[in-house]
Amino acid sequence: MLKVNNISYSYEDGTQALKNVNLNVKKGDIVSLLGENGAGKSTLFLHFNGILKPDNGEIFIEGEQLKYDKKSLIKFRQKIGIVFQNPDDQLFAPTVEEDVAFGPLNLGLSQEETQNRVTDALKKVGMSGYERKAPHHLSGGQKKRVAIAGILAMDPQIMVLDEPTSGLDPKGASNILKLLYRLNDEGMTIIISTHDVDLVPIHSKKVYIISSGEIIKSGTPNEVFEDIELIRNANLRLPRVAHLFEILDKKDNFNFDGNYPLTISEARKLFNKLQNK
Ligand SMILES: Nc1ncnc2c1ncn2[C@@H]1O[C@H](COP(=O)(O)OP(=O)(O)O)[C@@H](O)[C@H]1O
Ligand SMILES: [Mg+2]
Repeated sequence: MLKVNNISYSYEDGTQALKNVNLNVKKGDIVSLLGENGAGKSTLFLHFNGILKPDNGEIFIEGEQLKYDKKSLIKFRQKIGIVFQNPDDQLFAPTVEEDVAFGPLNLGLSQEETQNRVTDALKKVGMSGYERKAPHHLSGGQKKRVAIAGILAMDPQIMVLDEPTSGLDPKGASNILKLLYRLNDEGMTIIISTHDVDLVPIHSKKVYIISSGEIIKSGTPNEVFEDIELIRNANLRLPRVAHLFEILDKKDNFNFDGNYPLTISEARKLFNKLQNK
């Protein structure tokens, strides 16, 4: 679905933000790109729809190589929708419905088809009834949902979200994540960037760890969090639950064998197993 082949990128001031990055995202996947601030997450995402052009390497979307002429960019940007970290960079129309309608109208769809898409997209993100509101009067979480609706209305194959939970309160963040799982369940391929290690194991099937512009590890959440030293060298940490098990293991001799649960539900399973022994 999305294949990134060995791309490198330096900004004009000489900062090398990406080094030989490879990524392979399959249809229906939900993938996290995990890295500290400045690791290169946003730079990588800006390559996915051709806003930035790599110095080396190629990007393939559904087997077709990304090209940078106007016509190709319009086509590719319909296939891969990016939700930026700050909704204020994305929302600009006077009302929610005009904002969500902008993409479909730009694709040349009729008023009627556009209206249908706006209604559907707002319903999917739980924002029906807000059509006439001004986006800047919405809460952070609501803005984020409208930004997601704007991308959904374009009917993309892949949705890319740059730090979708950053700046949201716990409830707002959890609502966004639930929405993303639901969209993924309905078949949408989703790529998320985050530095929140507690969220990653809950939602991702596959995780890429990025550090100083390089992908230093990829795999299932359990595979990537197994290498604690690598995680800490990337200035990340273990999920809280795993950290607790690490302390019990190393300081209190519980002997968990280094296979620490990453989530509360994994911890419960382990406790139940131990209890039934
Ligand atoms: N417009 C820019 N010009 C120069 N350097 C930049 C620019 N944007 C980002 N960088 C640098 O590129 C690196 C990666 O940044 P970024 O992709 O924004 O990281 P992240 O999204 O993971 O926080 C950082 O060292 C950052 O300072
Ligand atoms: Mg960023």
